[in-house]
Amino acid sequence: MRVPVFAANWKMNHGPRATRSYLGHFLSHYPAREDRTVIICPPAVSLEAARSALTTRSDILLGVQNVYWEEKGAFTGETSPAMAHEAGASVTLVGHSERRHLFGETDEMTARKCAAAWRGGLTPILCVGESQDERDRGETRAVVLRQLRAGITSLDTAHVRCMLFAYEPVWAIGTGRTATPDDASEVHGWMRAALAEEIGEQAREIPLLYGGSVNAETAPRLLAAPHVDGLLVGGASLDAERWAHMACT
Ligand code: PGA
Repeated sequence: MRVPVFAANWKMNHGPRATRSYLGHFLSHYPAREDRTVIICPPAVSLEAARSALTTRSDILLGVQNVYWEEKGAFTGETSPAMAHEAGASVTLVGHSERRHLFGETDEMTARKCAAAWRGGLTPILCVGESQDERDRGETRAVVLRQLRAGITSLDTAHVRCMLFAYEPVWAIGTGRTATPDDASEVHGWMRAALAEEIGEQAREIPLLYGGSVNAETAPRLLAAPHVDGLLVGGASLDAERWAHMACT
């Protein structure tokens, strides 16, 4: 039985001090609940502060927004999965559209990152989504499924079964334009079917999140759509009270 997943992606917001203050507020507005999973992805430098603020709240998981696939070495500016894990993360985003479009992350890189995440003790959330041009050309299905299949190409069934996926159309991220519940549901249905081809029936249990300008108003409708098992929220997760309210949807 899947429970809804509420994942916050703070992007490059909230350093350690702001993280402590945010989580103080968030915890007072969000009592632990067993009927949902809450994941918070602060910037990597704020993971330790977040972990310290959450010592009494093991119900809330921490994620890192990006990892590199090597374990250690001369890779200036990068974070290995094991290091993020040591700092408090149990989850990592992989292939977020900002990584793909601003930092040139390719499908091949997402595959390496998903595999490295598992080796380093992190559960990947593989993000996929088409651009406006791709959508206009009718390529949504092809793009989303190509990104999905490429990202899991080197994983075995047991790992795919336990990871998460997020459909985040690029045109909806940070733009105020949200996919309709029907649009999200259709794409999630394609993703579920593609995962079933890869790993069989167990694909039914895999959480498929929707992300892209989700707010308190659109969240309940999206969550009610078939195959939408959770939300990945950027802008609307930056305020602690708003996010607590949304996580209680
Ligand atoms: P947004 O970001 O909610 O601000 O559109 C979502 C995301 O990029 O994960």
